[in-house]
Amino acid sequence: MKGLILAAGLGTRLRPITSLKPKPTIAVANRPLIHHAVDNLVAAGVRDIGVVVSFLTANSIKETLAGYEGVNFEFIKQNPPKGLAHAVEVSRDFLGDDPFVMYLSDNLFEHGITEFVERFQAGEHRAVMALVPVSYEEAKSLGVAIVEGDRITRLVEKPADPPSTLAVAGVYVFDSAIHAMIEGLEPGAKGEYQITDAIQRLIEAGEPVAPVEVSGWWKDTGKPEDILDANRLLLMRAKRDVKGTVDGAQLIGEVVIEEGAVVRDTTIFGPAIVGAGAEVVGAYIGPFTAIGEECVIHNAEIEYSVVGARTTIQGVGPRLQASLIGEDVRIGGHRGRPSTHRLVVGDESTILLQEG
Ligand code: G1P
Repeated sequence: MKGLILAAGLGTRLRPITSLKPKPTIAVANRPLIHHAVDNLVAAGVRDIGVVVSFLTANSIKETLAGYEGVNFEFIKQNPPKGLAHAVEVSRDFLGDDPFVMYLSDNLFEHGITEFVERFQAGEHRAVMALVPVSYEEAKSLGVAIVEGDRITRLVEKPADPPSTLAVAGVYVFDSAIHAMIEGLEPGAKGEYQITDAIQRLIEAGEPVAPVEVSGWWKDTGKPEDILDANRLLLMRAKRDVKGTVDGAQLIGEVVIEEGAVVRDTTIFGPAIVGAGAEVVGAYIGPFTAIGEECVIHNAEIEYSVVGARTTIQGVGPRLQASLIGEDVRIGGHRGRPSTHRLVVGDESTILLQEG
């Protein structure tokens, strides 16, 4: 069984966080999204993994995976990305005729993906899809499936009027029959070659496609609020682990302080994580917060937030909350006159200031 991680997308809904870095490299609970994907594949016994990248994402993705041991990665270029079915098509040489798990790199699953792989290995189906019940509104922005018994009988991508509220989550298991279904496919939703349409052809050819309902939570991390929620869900698994230096600080609950971090005169309510080499002094860190490595947090309060590596937050009065902050950002307070906010903000940023 091979793995195919799709990591060529631009993540435009996450700008400016994704303006300089592709989405799969963004750290959630201080671990890049794509590492969570690889963790899930490895746990399901998959170690031969193709990673589909575009010329814009290739270098950062390679760098992010460089430190991941025990896995054979093959990088496959998809230039330009024209949909999920197109990603499989460009991976044909790597995949050969082997069965494979296709994994969208921005998807997280509480209980991993083993049950989908096991269902496929039971040998009764040409494809297995992970499905999740969602609301009617949510279904409009996803693929949806109609299920009868142990088979999927119809699939629709991004339906204007969803015929089902069972959504397609981003993990699929295929055998080589999918390749013939991709040949000659017409572009579908968003002008892209949709894997949903290819699987629909498989169904129409009378081949069995199995639904497996996702157990536990599933998260598609397309938007900033999804990243914050994914961070919350992942931190709920954290176990107290203090490796850094703690001095005059109060750590409550499941708090992780990574190696080389210094936490002084600070209160931290878990679950929360402070990254390696970070310095947190005179601060309050609230639940569901991830502070990236080598961050500097002085005289500031922050909760339910994700702070990227090497960011500095200093002397900020009001508590920062529900904030997604990138890497190498500087946020500071000032006391001088005039009493103003001063901003140097990139394109497509979001700033919400308390009305005064
Ligand atoms: C893709 C699939 C869609 C699926 C979704 C899950 O859409 O095309 O069927 O429901 O992933 O994350 P995208 O998120 O790429 O628009």
